[in-house]
Amino acid sequence: MAGKWVRMVTAQTPTNIAVIKYWGKRDEALILPVNDSISVTLDPAHLCTTTTVAVSPSFDQDRMWLNGKEISLAGGRFQSCLREIRSRACDVEDEEKGIKIAKKEWENLHLHIASYNNFPTAAGLASSAAGFACLVFALAKLMNAKEDQSQLSAIARQGSGSACRSLYGGFVKWIMGNDEDGRDSLAVQLADEKHWDDLVIIIAVVSSRQKETSSTSGMRETVETSLLLKHRAKEIVPKRIVQMEEAIKNRDFASFAQLTCTDSNQFHAVCLDTSPPIFYMNDTSHRIISVVEKWNRSEGVPQVAYTFDAGPNAVMIARDRKAASLLLQRLLFHFPPNADTDLNSYIIGDKSILQDAGI
Ligand code: ADP
Ligand code: DP6
Ligand code: CO
Repeated sequence: MAGKWVRMVTAQTPTNIAVIKYWGKRDEALILPVNDSISVTLDPAHLCTTTTVAVSPSFDQDRMWLNGKEISLAGGRFQSCLREIRSRACDVEDEEKGIKIAKKEWENLHLHIASYNNFPTAAGLASSAAGFACLVFALAKLMNAKEDQSQLSAIARQGSGSACRSLYGGFVKWIMGNDEDGRDSLAVQLADEKHWDDLVIIIAVVSSRQKETSSTSGMRETVETSLLLKHRAKEIVPKRIVQMEEAIKNRDFASFAQLTCTDSNQFHAVCLDTSPPIFYMNDTSHRIISVVEKWNRSEGVPQVAYTFDAGPNAVMIARDRKAASLLLQRLLFHFPPNADTDLNSYIIGDKSILQDAGI
């Protein structure tokens, strides 16, 4: 293995938005949730992470750059992902470049990782989901780890919980699992990206600023202090998961929208029930909810579902293209970008068209 060769792999992974939210861990180190969750994987053209992983005998330590700035890999999450993939590394033979790496050599080789998000990082648009899913996927390719998507999802989960759902396109469920070691806490695809392709997603970027309370510390405080969370996780979410699976299967937009909106609102109620309370939404977020609610009511049948992650940005799912264009007209009327609101742009896209994240 002489010489100064470099082997590189680049992958691209879209983010996902939960329609039944994950909020709260029963195990912090392994990232095991207190309830199941369901998400929609988004169109990678608009919201995705691109990560290049490189290995070379000339690298003397593992290093990572995020959006062009070096970040520390010392945290447990990065170390868990690196350790899990390294332990599954296999022989690699790249005939074109004349590179051969034997399985046992991986433990002494170092990595350089460069990752870019094409959307705001740590602003409540699930950058940690796209980021860790992409990292795990790229590392597995680089090291020829022969794990399937669901096993990779359980590894990505140890980087960021929501990341396990970004290994699949379409509609995805993260099963909370029962095992103490977390082996059965992984993502499964409920329906692929071709299912229900009338839906159109519009994201209102209310703020691209980094949030004050990260998802990780926010949900830790909620678990410690909120009684409402216990009720939500035990009594409410299990029923909603069953109903949401049905709604997705039957393309029942009325139920889908009702469940999505109420679950988002309950998640933010749980944040408010945390001590001290956590405010992820702002005035503009609340005004967007009012506009959508009023419109849905005036139509008699819901046209649009809204959901907000741990940040002020609105993700809206329109039932079809007609509803999407009417929604956009209304939004541009009430919230013109860069006017007297703090809204700065709109992103419009489909559900994910992506199955295999590799490029
Ligand atoms: P978000 O709502 O954007 O997911 P979180 O608070 O959950 O915000 O997570 C933000 C953190 O996720 C960042 O501080 C960073 O540690 C990690 N992260 C974001 N993007 C990437 C990426 N492309 N690769 C690796 N980690 C990332
Ligand atoms: C509100 O997955 O970002 O977006 O597991 O601590 O990294 P960690 O948290 P993260 O939390 C996501 C919370 C959410 C809801 C969801 O995506 O299900
Ligand atoms: Co996150």
